[in-house]
Amino acid sequence: MPRKIILDVDPGHDDAIAILLAHGNPEIDLVAVTTVAGNQILPKVTYNAMRVATLVGADVPIARGAEFPLVRKQTTDGELTVGSVHGTSGLDGPALPEPTMELDPRPAAQLIVDTVMAAEPQEITLVPVGPLTNIALAMRLEPKIIGRVREVVLMGGAYTQGNATPAAEFNIYADPEAASAVFSADWQVTMVGLDLTHQAVATPEIKERIRAIGSPLAQTVVAWLDYFGGTYDSVYKLPHPPIHDACAVARVINPDILHVEDAFVAVETRGQWTYGDTVTDFLGAFGEPFNTLVATKLDFDAFWNLIIDAITTISAQQSQLSSVQS
Ligand code: RIB
Ligand code: CA
Repeated sequence: MPRKIILDVDPGHDDAIAILLAHGNPEIDLVAVTTVAGNQILPKVTYNAMRVATLVGADVPIARGAEFPLVRKQTTDGELTVGSVHGTSGLDGPALPEPTMELDPRPAAQLIVDTVMAAEPQEITLVPVGPLTNIALAMRLEPKIIGRVREVVLMGGAYTQGNATPAAEFNIYADPEAASAVFSADWQVTMVGLDLTHQAVATPEIKERIRAIGSPLAQTVVAWLDYFGGTYDSVYKLPHPPIHDACAVARVINPDILHVEDAFVAVETRGQWTYGDTVTDFLGAFGEPFNTLVATKLDFDAFWNLIIDAITTISAQQSQLSSVQS
């Protein structure tokens, strides 16, 4: 049976590829998309999520979520000391179609609660790949979702080096209080952090494999990788862009693609220099029960095969549709 997921996003180039993978893989039933301010302000990331859903043909409810973090002052990708990797629109690069859908009228937290409470227990998996504000709000709106959600597989955090600050990864840094609530709740959390996602890089060989698919969608993805690769090189001096968010979706599709280790993870919310750090204890030094599965090793080939298969599948669907329509 396909795994039902709610994808919480702040597109973002890697969020866009996560949406594409979730829609294009048969093991996933993408039941809702919710947006959260992160890479860019809420109107921009919401518009981007709608454009990407239109591009890939994902007919799912999309709800607009939190405009601001729970407590801290808002920060977006562009305001960080390290600069912007997603551009002014939040998804700079190739032209994208205008949205063909209306937004779901509910706030994201309400859509999350309604979807989880209407499903069977343990049927819905939450896959947040932006700041965790919507997830924290949904937990407060209806605490019963904590016992009803199958698991939370999030892109965020790091047990070595951050990217927003030396200590903190962006999604956590953007709303540490929300992240702390998510990690400390009594549900299964899998942390797909930078230590894992920096292995998921789009090398020139991978880009050529995607380009060789030869469809308009493949060209768009290559253009995203070209843009994202350029900014990642100039901002982070990394030669190839890591496709962070798709790693969380890949974990739901095939858990063996990401090796995980049990650990205790706590989010620092008071440190002057460590605010937003996902302090990861693999050894039990704090004497706290282990509360998180932490991703450490990626099966690179299996990961990129999923992405390429999803682009190929959607491209074939679009080609079939256009031949029927012509
Ligand atoms: O640190 C990487 C994360 O921040 C990714 O989710 C990316 O989209 C940005 O939101
Ligand atoms: Ca993201």
